[in-house]
Amino acid sequence: MFRTETCGQLRLADTGKHVTLAGWVQRVRKMGGMTFVDLRDRYGITQIVFNNDTDAALCEAANHLGREFVIQVTGTVAERTSKNANLPTGDIEIIAETLTILNRSEVPPFTIEEDTDGGDDLRMKFRYLDLRRPNVRRNLELRHRMTIAVRDYLDKQGFLEIETPMLVGSTPEGARDFVVPSRMNPGQFYALPQSPQTLKQLLMVSGMDRYFQIVKCFRDEDLRADRQPEFTQIDCEMSFVNQEDVISLFEGMAKHLFKELRGVELTEPFPRMPWDEAMRLYGSDKPDTRFGMTFVELMDILKGHGFGVFNSAAYIGGICVPGAATYTRKQLDQLTDYVRRPQIGAKGMVYARVEADGTVKSSVDKFYSQEVLQEMKKAMDANPGDLILILSGDDAMKTRKQLCELRLEMGRQLGLRDKNKFSCLWVVDFPMFEWSEEEGRLMAMHHPFTHPKDEDIPLLDTDPAAVRADAYDMVINGVEVGGGSIRIHDSALQAKMFEILGFTPEKAQEQFGFLMNAFKYGAPPHGGLAYGLDRWVSLFAGLDSIRDCIAFPKNNSGRDVMLDAPAPLDQKQLDELELALNPSEQAE
Ligand code: AMO
Repeated sequence: MFRTETCGQLRLADTGKHVTLAGWVQRVRKMGGMTFVDLRDRYGITQIVFNNDTDAALCEAANHLGREFVIQVTGTVAERTSKNANLPTGDIEIIAETLTILNRSEVPPFTIEEDTDGGDDLRMKFRYLDLRRPNVRRNLELRHRMTIAVRDYLDKQGFLEIETPMLVGSTPEGARDFVVPSRMNPGQFYALPQSPQTLKQLLMVSGMDRYFQIVKCFRDEDLRADRQPEFTQIDCEMSFVNQEDVISLFEGMAKHLFKELRGVELTEPFPRMPWDEAMRLYGSDKPDTRFGMTFVELMDILKGHGFGVFNSAAYIGGICVPGAATYTRKQLDQLTDYVRRPQIGAKGMVYARVEADGTVKSSVDKFYSQEVLQEMKKAMDANPGDLILILSGDDAMKTRKQLCELRLEMGRQLGLRDKNKFSCLWVVDFPMFEWSEEEGRLMAMHHPFTHPKDEDIPLLDTDPAAVRADAYDMVINGVEVGGGSIRIHDSALQAKMFEILGFTPEKAQEQFGFLMNAFKYGAPPHGGLAYGLDRWVSLFAGLDSIRDCIAFPKNNSGRDVMLDAPAPLDQKQLDELELALNPSEQAE
């Protein structure tokens, strides 16, 4: 037997017990005639003691142990003289009797002990060592418990877990696909699924009624803290449901997860916010509602007073930051620099302080009378001691997004984005389409299978940009943790949707004929949703990036630095696939 107990198991009650432990050497300390070894495994750390007086040879062997050696120790559990309250096993130690080195280790590139950091690239290159650290491991444990809780909840609700293929066809809508060449079909490519959207809809046509899958999805898009090129969805679909049914079932699931994984009891229904309100008040379709500072539009008040920047603006909006009138000139300059960063792109920022006597002092005082400034103060519901921050621009949507970044930054600076506070919300009534400058056409905001609101269907012919969809996103603390919609189940309406999206009937048939044909054979009304598993876990674990809850994530350039992927293929493999590379790429 390799071990009788794990390194996290033994307590004072085990004193006197003869045990065998196995694990990794975290630390060796020599103190006088004693050598202490911290032995670590997934379950914890146990202190092993080697006594030079009782067994000099054994103690000498322990002195030569290196970090991360894998060892087996037998010995007797004893009460410690100096206890360690930070360790669950901190009341005891093992008086060693035998020591076996099961494997040696080179000196690791960083120490495994908690809270030390080897730098991102090194951590990723040696991810298997990084995973020995308790923090990352705890995140994976949480992820495991989350999937168990999800399966349990959905099973009880009658959902079937059904796998869908990973090798599918490429589709033009959505993000870019990752593609896979087919050796048996030279010159042809599979795509990895961006989501099992159409397949889950086909399962509804098949009568499966309630489907779910914890499934890998692949999207070739630019990466951010909450985006990975491969990520995991909790993907669900239901038949004979309306928007209310889907929202209620998945709100129930969210509450179940909060209770199971965070011990948080959410009793109230999640608020609903129409998309246009979210954009108007927060400049975002995923507002962080843990704090206020909602936008106030100031066009009527601030235009037409000789301040050229505002006079030519298509949007002027402000936020009132409570109690921040104490911000110094330097801090305000730093904020201006913040919104001017290319990622945000504002041209400048105007500020106004509400003084103790109620007067308003602004950075553009020469253009505005105190009367106008008071009007602004009133509109913003500002009080003495508050700071008003204003952005303007010639593109209303872009300016709102900039103001959104400023609001989030102020929330951060004032400590209002507490990771232990959760503010959940459904954003509803999304527009069906959005205009794409890049494509020069309307694109589906959610996806082309989303059902328009019944009352907006007539607008499809007259004013498609005004059509709203039966689509909903769940947003928690400013993170989109899930999204879904009621789907079209009528082949004629689906064909019309493709027409509005600029597909010829032939192209629509070629790309999505399988779905439209299926709709001709008795498709039930259906709808669903997908939660982003990685985002949920990082929310529960309080992480800044979803990378830390993924065992082997990609870096910001989409690379796996440990596997060194992606990488060129051998000529033999290219030949088998009948692929020829563009010579300029070959040279790189
Ligand atoms: P959507 O594209 O909104 O919907 O994705 C659903 C959820 O998946 C998560 N997510 C991501 N997580 C990490 N990295 C990414 N790159 C990434 N992209 C998305 C988000 C998001 O809310 N088929 C539809 C769902 C449906 O309509 O049922 C879909 O894929 O949390």
